Amino acid sequence: MRTLATFIGVATLAACPCAGWAQQSAAPANIRSEQSLPSRYPYVVKDVLAFCRPAKGFWVDLGAGKGQVAIPLIEATGNPVVMLDPDREAMAEGLEIAREKKLENRLSAVVGCAEAMPFPDNTVDLVVSRGSIFFWDDPVKGLKEVYRVLRPGGKAYIGGGAGSGYPKWAVEKLIQQRKEKMQGDAADQWIRFVELRRPEQMKRWAKESGLHEFEVMGKGAISCEDERTGQGVWLLLEKKPEDRGDHDS
Ligand SMILES: C[S@@+](CC[C@H](N)C(=O)[O-])C[C@H]1O[C@@H](n2cnc3c(N)ncnc32)[C@H](O)[C@@H]1O
Repeated sequence: MRTLATFIGVATLAACPCAGWAQQSAAPANIRSEQSLPSRYPYVVKDVLAFCRPAKGFWVDLGAGKGQVAIPLIEATGNPVVMLDPDREAMAEGLEIAREKKLENRLSAVVGCAEAMPFPDNTVDLVVSRGSIFFWDDPVKGLKEVYRVLRPGGKAYIGGGAGSGYPKWAVEKLIQQRKEKMQGDAADQWIRFVELRRPEQMKRWAKESGLHEFEVMGKGAISCEDERTGQGVWLLLEKKPEDRGDHDS
């Protein structure tokens, strides 16, 4: 039996705040050239574990796609992961990959979006989200939702990047390619890509969400100056252990 749990059906998805996701999710032209570089996911997973030190339990990969982060996270820890994404086909592919790796009992999928996370308040031990917030229709609403579902003491690591241990030669090549693309045929898209990934933007989203205690790490899509994270930008937050209050969603 397949483990794809489509808790939100097609009809519901149409009314979902992220109904525009397919259009929004379009990546800039030439993004595929970056896939010839070494995989960034194992490095990101190392950082997730180092920064969040998550308690075992209910872990969510938000905007999981094919489980590119979820699967190595399971491999590294053995803890089950729930993928949440509006793209049911991508997650179905991820479930197949997990099955081939004999991890089908650890990975599950829920169709839905950040702006209306289909989970109860105060229940999630870890939210990880890589490369997704930049496509959300409403990142501020999404971050409020992340905070709502987090268990007191739970952590979230949200952003994008290659991971602090990503090889220097590869990160330099990645940044050089992006700088070139910012001058190329799809310059507008690439400039927007970089703008969305600036730490100032992430801080704005976090503040507008009403988050008080958070840290923004990394200097963005074309910098690797922050040694803690390497290339990229990340929001690290912890729900205060004593905070179980009501939250606007
Ligand atoms: C660039 S992919 C990243 C996939 C994977 N996390 C990775 O790091 O490779 C962006 C993902 O965000 C998802 N997405 C777009 N809008 C979303 C939303 N509002 N809520 C949650 N996920 C969303 C897309 O469907 C897509 O799978």
